[in-house]
Amino acid sequence: MTDTAADLSTLVAAACAEIAESQNVEQLEAIRVRLLGKKGEITARLKALGSMDPETRRVAGAKINEAKEKLQTAIEERRAQLEEELLARQLASETVDVTLPGRGQRIGGLHPVTRVRRRIEQIFKSAGFQIADGPEIEDDWHNFEALNIPANHPARAMHDTFYFPDGRLLRTHTSPVQVRVMERQKPPVRVIVPGRVYRCDSDMTHTPMFHQVEGLVVDEGISFANLKAILHSFMRALFEKDVKMRLRPSYFPFTEPSAEVDISCVSCGGSGCRVCKNTGWVEVAGCGVVHPNVLRAVGIDTERYTGYAFGMGIDRLTMLRYNVNDIRMYFENDLRFLRQFA
Ligand code: DAH
Repeated sequence: MTDTAADLSTLVAAACAEIAESQNVEQLEAIRVRLLGKKGEITARLKALGSMDPETRRVAGAKINEAKEKLQTAIEERRAQLEEELLARQLASETVDVTLPGRGQRIGGLHPVTRVRRRIEQIFKSAGFQIADGPEIEDDWHNFEALNIPANHPARAMHDTFYFPDGRLLRTHTSPVQVRVMERQKPPVRVIVPGRVYRCDSDMTHTPMFHQVEGLVVDEGISFANLKAILHSFMRALFEKDVKMRLRPSYFPFTEPSAEVDISCVSCGGSGCRVCKNTGWVEVAGCGVVHPNVLRAVGIDTERYTGYAFGMGIDRLTMLRYNVNDIRMYFENDLRFLRQFA
């Protein structure tokens, strides 16, 4: 073996070992460039052939080409191996564990006030009432005047009204919808009106926006007795208890006679507690026989028709039903509170 040949086989052996140990495609490529690139060691040897005599060149050329092919094969094999390993690693890192439990979906719940409103609607629907609606931005006529509350009437002072510059207002109660319903519909009328109302008032038991449900029945031969019966059935249905009910004489401009509705305390059953301030009774509604002036304001014949009306606070009924003691919790959107109703 010539010197050159021995030298070449040493080079090939060392290079093959290096190739086998290369850890990635980049390392491998660097080795290839060093050996077979334009300025590579093997390339240099091939270039040197030119200055040899023909016989030496033939023998040396064959040897160098053999070495070159050996190295090329080794590099290609190692490259294939490295690429396969890389792919295997990628696949391993991207696998999805289909046995993991899912994240699940949290089911939301209706707001307690919404739940009670829907329940109220349900109860009255089953008693033949229709659900009516009206605007939250009202005019003076519907909110006051047509309800027998003329300008300067002392009852206006109790309403803490939010006014717009043009004289319109945020309705202070759902009663204006009584007027709107009778404007578009002749008796018999049998409706409830759930909705938002607004008053400039805020503390433990008052928020500037709250919810009322109005009731109105107008027909021939409607009496106070009908009113009392429907309200008592309603209270028993709403609270799912045999609640007692009493009516206290009161005053509203749009009803005559008027009454305040109390039920036996749903919290203590009437024995006295914090909720009923130890009286055994809680006030839940106002009501009465529709004042003839209200019927006249919408052109209904007061000789032929009579009616009753009532109004109650949905937020307050909700507090009683769910034992909530601060009305402001309804608006804080604290999930710890809301989740209890889901
Ligand atoms: N509108 C009254 C209020 O907000 C409640 C009310 C009382 C409504 C008696 C009625 C009624 O329909 O007859 O204070």
